[in-house]
Parts: sequence; C-alpha cells; structure tokens
Amino acid sequence: MRRVLVTGGAGFIGSNFVRMVLAEHVDCFIVNLDKLTYAGNLENLAEFLNHPNHKFVKGDICDGILVEKIIDEYKIDAIINFAAESHVDRSITEPKVFIETNITGTLTLLEAARDKKVARFVQISTDEVYGALALGQDAKFTEQTPPSPNSPYSASKAAADHLVKAFGHTWAVKYNITRSSNNYGPYQFPEKLMPLMINNALNDKELPVYGDGLYVRDWLYVYDHCTAVWKVLTEAPPGEVYNIGGCNEKTNLEVIDVILNRLGKPKSLIKHVTDRPGHDRRYAIDAGKIIKDLDWRPSVRFEEGINKTIDWYLQNHKWLSNVVSGDYQKYYEQMYKNR
Ligand code: NAD
Ligand code: DAU
Repeated sequence: MRRVLVTGGAGFIGSNFVRMVLAEHVDCFIVNLDKLTYAGNLENLAEFLNHPNHKFVKGDICDGILVEKIIDEYKIDAIINFAAESHVDRSITEPKVFIETNITGTLTLLEAARDKKVARFVQISTDEVYGALALGQDAKFTEQTPPSPNSPYSASKAAADHLVKAFGHTWAVKYNITRSSNNYGPYQFPEKLMPLMINNALNDKELPVYGDGLYVRDWLYVYDHCTAVWKVLTEAPPGEVYNIGGCNEKTNLEVIDVILNRLGKPKSLIKHVTDRPGHDRRYAIDAGKIIKDLDWRPSVRFEEGINKTIDWYLQNHKWLSNVVSGDYQKYYEQMYKNR
C-alpha cells in the first residue's frame, strides 16, 4: 500500500486528485493536509471524508512539527505538494502570503522529507515559471526553457522549484517537478477565468475581460492533470521534470464565446476592463517528454471538457452559491472596482 501525504487536497486540483486516486487506485492511502484558506473547501471532498483510505488534517504546510508528526504517524512514503496560493491577481495585490506558503511552505516540506527519508517528493509547479511567449510564434515551453517568471505568484513557484532541485542535489532528496498549463473542470474557485465567467453569465453580470482578451492559455482538463501526476509519482525516475499540457491553445475571448453560447447568454455581457499588470501574453506547453517517457496523454478534448465543466457548474449551483457568498463578494468588488 502506498502512503502518500497530499497537501492542498481540499483545493481545486488537489481535491480532483484525491477523488481520482480513491476511485481508481485501491492500494493508496492518502493523508490530506490543507489549511482550508478561502480556496480550500471540504465540500470538494464531501463523499470521501469518511473513506477508509483518506485522512483529512487541517493544518499549514509551514508547520514543520505537524508535517513530521504526520510522516511518522502514517508512515508516509511520498509527498505531493499541491498546496499553494495560486491566483496571479491576488499575488499582485498581496504578494507576501505567496512567499510564505509557496516558498517557506515548500522548504518546510522538503526539510521534513529529507529528515524523515521520505522516498519521493513531487512538487506541483506551473508553466508560468517559464515566463511568457509572444502571439503568432510556434515556440512552446520545454523542460529546458530557462525560468523567467513575471508575477509574484510565478516567481514564488520558480523559487520553490529551485529549492526542490537544491534539496535533490545537496541531500539526495528524490524528487520530481511537474509544470502544468491552465487547468479547468469541476470544483475550481470562481476567481479563475472559466468559473468566474460561468458564474457571472449565469447571473447576467458583466464578464470582465482583461485588455483585448487575446491572451492565450493552453487548457488542460483537470482529470488529465491528475492522471499525469499519478504517472509521475508511480513511474518517473527521480530528478526528472515534466511539462503537462492539453494541446488546446485558446484566447480568452474564444473560451468566453463557448461559455456564452452554451448558456444562451448575449455577447453584450462582455466588458473589456483595465488589463492585469504585467499580463503574460501566451503560454504554450510542449508535453512531448511525458508523452514519450511515461506514455501519458490528455484524454479529454477541449470541446468535450468545457461543456462538461459548464454543465457541472449548472448542476452544482449550491456549491457555487456557497463559495461565492461572504468573503468572495468582498474580493470581487475590490478586484473589479477600479477596472
Ligand atoms: P487552489 O488555490 O484551488 O488550492 C490550493 C489549496 O491549497 C487550497 O485547498 C488551500 O486551502 C491550500 N493551502 C493554501 N495555503 C496552504 C498552506 N499554507 N498550508 C496548507 N494548505 C494550504 O489551487 P489549484 O488551482 O488547485 O492549484 C494547485 C497547485 O497546482 C498549486 O501548486 C498551483 O500552483 C498548481 N497549478 C495550478 C494550475 C491551475 O490552472 N489551477 C496550473 C498549474 C499548476
Ligand atoms: O498556467 C498555469 C496557471 O494558470 C496556474 O499556475 C495558476 O495557478 C492559474 O491561476 C492559472 O493562471 P492564469 O493567470 O493563466 O489564470 P486566470 O484564470 O487567472 O486567467 C486566465 C486568463 O484570463 C488570463 O489571461 C487572465 C484572463 N482573465 C482572468 C480573469 C480572472 C480575464 O480576462 N478576466 C478575469 O476576470
């Protein structure tokens, strides 16, 4: 039986990962350590809270004593670090917490992994560490692309990647790093493009498009990200870095168009607003290495994935109205007040 410490498992990707593993891999026990920030939600895991192969612990990845206690008590043999502050806009208004969680938190986990001789450490990083590409180029990010992060968020993730490599080099911590493109799917907090636009369109509210809306992202259905992480955990040699992408480059306006059509809402809801400072123009992933070396590939086509996603939000309006109540409203009003 594998015994894995998953951090951030009450967030968007982490909860999808926990759900996938518990459904598909009976030989895996998960301890799920999550601080339950605004982005973490136990409702994301409701049906798994009493699952015999899942133990939820509320806590902070910066708490080294707690992390070591979990490793000892549950005989952890692998750590997958999903926990992070993950929203670029928030990192522009309040960068400090990104440094604390994304860098100090990763350092704390690495020290515990080293001292307790945890057999594998998988760091969930992002394509944003590579910086930005121009529109109209064929170029894509490969694992050899040098890091060149542009936002406090991506800078903190790049710093964490460097720490992971340094612990591998200095103390032989066995690690992997994954760098995925933009995920979409169920349980994504509605501050990110897709769920925010779906929620606003459902409520006939304006859709705030930053700048010209021609920014390009490579969209990956979250389930496919989860299967890639599982492959890396179970099959990758230590010390390898893998890009994970969906081969689905779309402009933000193309994504919004699909949402409006599916929901039968008018284009007049679109409002071009002041751009995000330092906005990265295009991300594009070359996922050739994980496809070739680990025989992974995305299984969900964009048209299928986005329709499934919109339908999920339609069917889970209670989840959506729960997460957008209270603090989210304050965040939203503040974020879009001056745009
Ligand atoms: P999310 O914001 O939805 O979830 C983050 C989770 O981490 C939440 O449950 C939160 O409570 C928890 N958390 C935050 N600070 C913590 C702390 N100090 N201690 C313990 N738990 C803490 O994020 P997400 O979109 O699911 O992203 C997960 C990971 O994947 C992140 O590391 C992110 O950088 C990376 N990533 C995300 C995407 C994407 O498109 N969302 C793409 C590539 C990589
Ligand atoms: O590329 C991977 C990254 O993708 C992850 O590492 C991050 O955690 C994740 O948040 C995501 O970052 P982005 O900045 O690309 O995602 P976001 O959903 O915030 O924005 C996607 C695009 O949509 C981007 O060009 C900005 C634009 N946008 C976003 C919002 C929230 C808008 O035009 N209007 C909006 O209101």
